[in-house]
Amino acid sequence: MALASAMAGVDAQSLRVDLKQRGHEVNEDMYGIFFEEINHAGDGGLYAEMVQNRGFEEHVLPRGMVYRDGKIYAPNLPSYATHEKADWSDKWDMEAKKMLGWRVEAEGCRVAHEVSEPEYPLHKNTPNAMKLEIDGAGKVTLANSGYWGMAVKEGEKYDLRFYLNAPGYKGTLTVEIYDVEKGKTVGSETLHPVSLEHWTELTATLQAASDARHCELRIVFGASGRSVVWVDYVSLFPQNTFKGRKNGLRKDVAEMLAGLQPQFMRWPGGCIVEGATLDNRVRWKETLGDPMTRRGEWSLWGYRSTYGFGYHEFLQFCEDLGMDGMFVANAALGCSFRNGDYTDDPAELERYLQDIRDAIDYAIGDPSENEWARRRAEAGHAEPFPLKYVEIGNENFGPVYVRHFNYMYGKLKKEYPQIVFINTMGGNDDEMKDVVKTDMVDPHWYVNPDFFFGANDLFDKRQRKDFTVYVGEYACNAEVGSGNMLAALSEAAFMLGMERNGDMVQMASYAPLLVNVNQPNWACNQIWLDSYRTMGRASYYVQKMMAENRPDYNVQVNLTQTEPEKKSFQEGTVGVGTWNTQAEFRNIRLTAGGSTREVSIQDLQGRRGT
Ligand code: AHR
Repeated sequence: MALASAMAGVDAQSLRVDLKQRGHEVNEDMYGIFFEEINHAGDGGLYAEMVQNRGFEEHVLPRGMVYRDGKIYAPNLPSYATHEKADWSDKWDMEAKKMLGWRVEAEGCRVAHEVSEPEYPLHKNTPNAMKLEIDGAGKVTLANSGYWGMAVKEGEKYDLRFYLNAPGYKGTLTVEIYDVEKGKTVGSETLHPVSLEHWTELTATLQAASDARHCELRIVFGASGRSVVWVDYVSLFPQNTFKGRKNGLRKDVAEMLAGLQPQFMRWPGGCIVEGATLDNRVRWKETLGDPMTRRGEWSLWGYRSTYGFGYHEFLQFCEDLGMDGMFVANAALGCSFRNGDYTDDPAELERYLQDIRDAIDYAIGDPSENEWARRRAEAGHAEPFPLKYVEIGNENFGPVYVRHFNYMYGKLKKEYPQIVFINTMGGNDDEMKDVVKTDMVDPHWYVNPDFFFGANDLFDKRQRKDFTVYVGEYACNAEVGSGNMLAALSEAAFMLGMERNGDMVQMASYAPLLVNVNQPNWACNQIWLDSYRTMGRASYYVQKMMAENRPDYNVQVNLTQTEPEKKSFQEGTVGVGTWNTQAEFRNIRLTAGGSTREVSIQDLQGRRGT
């Protein structure tokens, strides 16, 4: 088949496709999604919880760090990457964190409030609570504004669960969803607890009378005297989660992800796997069970993760979307961009290894033989989950990592031959020389459009090895603002190169996946959201289009282009325009007579013939 341009004024070119010359196959599991608790991708994103700082734990220090004068400090330990002692620190606004999401108001009475640890906490893992000291007769409101406003839909129901410990409290108790924009209540209920002598669980179902984008949840105490009221674990969930699951996912966000037809999902990251310090790493075992009992941990992206979207929920989502699970495990190394501390102690290393075994067993083990598989069954899932991949570390490199990897891979591959194990390095000869064996490697690229256009043939030139490639993180995120069409096109060019080399590049995932636009950590992300909207950027539609049209195999393609005759013009018009929308024009280049000039949109406005 040959296509030739016959348009007047267009230089001769032809595209020859030889259907008989088959190239490499393209893996049917090629495209997947990367999840990390960054940009509020989970809390305030995919995870449907509507209350921010629900357990009053936001200010709890990252494990192993100390607080001094508005900053947190990591232990002064050597980094595995530099062998120098690292002294990582970050800003920490203790008071703002304590009240994050919350507001206390009194009418007709006095109230003092404080987030602190009561003598008898609701749960040992989450010791903090809100203390209200009420004095007089009047109304005290404890309000939560959610993740930059709560959104509700007319007719939908919302499940509220919270705990009070208020011996001696005499007064009324009302809960409501209040539309801040319109200044009215859209759903409320009055509760009549029999006793509040000890921690008491209270629940209500609130139905929204109208659509509202910017609500808050209010707990209103109609007080009639002096009392001390402790409040803890305040949670509000839409009943209409994705597939109606309890402690589930926001339906609109999950549906956007389903639209990508992902074949696998990576969890929990990203740098968060390693932690700002080793102590701060994700511990998957702490992400299981009743969300009220999950201690959470500060994410190195600047806020606390509730771990509400935990290991079990991740595996469940994989099953729900027909994806394979990819668990990323810590390789006993902290993040090299932060503290980079590590352990080389053999007994410790064995504990890290056992933690990976337990994660695999939780997902696919036999409940009659294995303790962690039994816990999965107790959590309501006796059948195995579709866990297929385990990455050992994230963006780790160098001799210490290679030593840890060789040790862990050597044991794990024998014990779990069905799992595909991934090494975090890029796969070049120098870095791989001491790696005994791996199934896959994981290079990452966050670069500019020129790189991605030019990298279309990057894998054509790579020597084949006894491991395959998973491009676990890539995005055109330099010189493109928060992402634009040029960025997306350059990613498409790169992806076509990956597909053409399907024998080597078996899988790829764009990163990061989600951003709550109210608190971004990263310049370019695939899907933008707030509490009532989701929007796929151009890169989302490139990912979707590539997944929907993934070829089974390549065919031989030859493109012939003749260099266009270089014409010069002295005068002419350059037009850029849009209609009934908003657009931004950047990176405009005018080429004439063989020379190129960068121009800005201001240069073009109202000028002719230059
Ligand atoms: O995707 C954002 C970050 O980029 C990831 O956490 C990390 O792995 C990479 O450096």
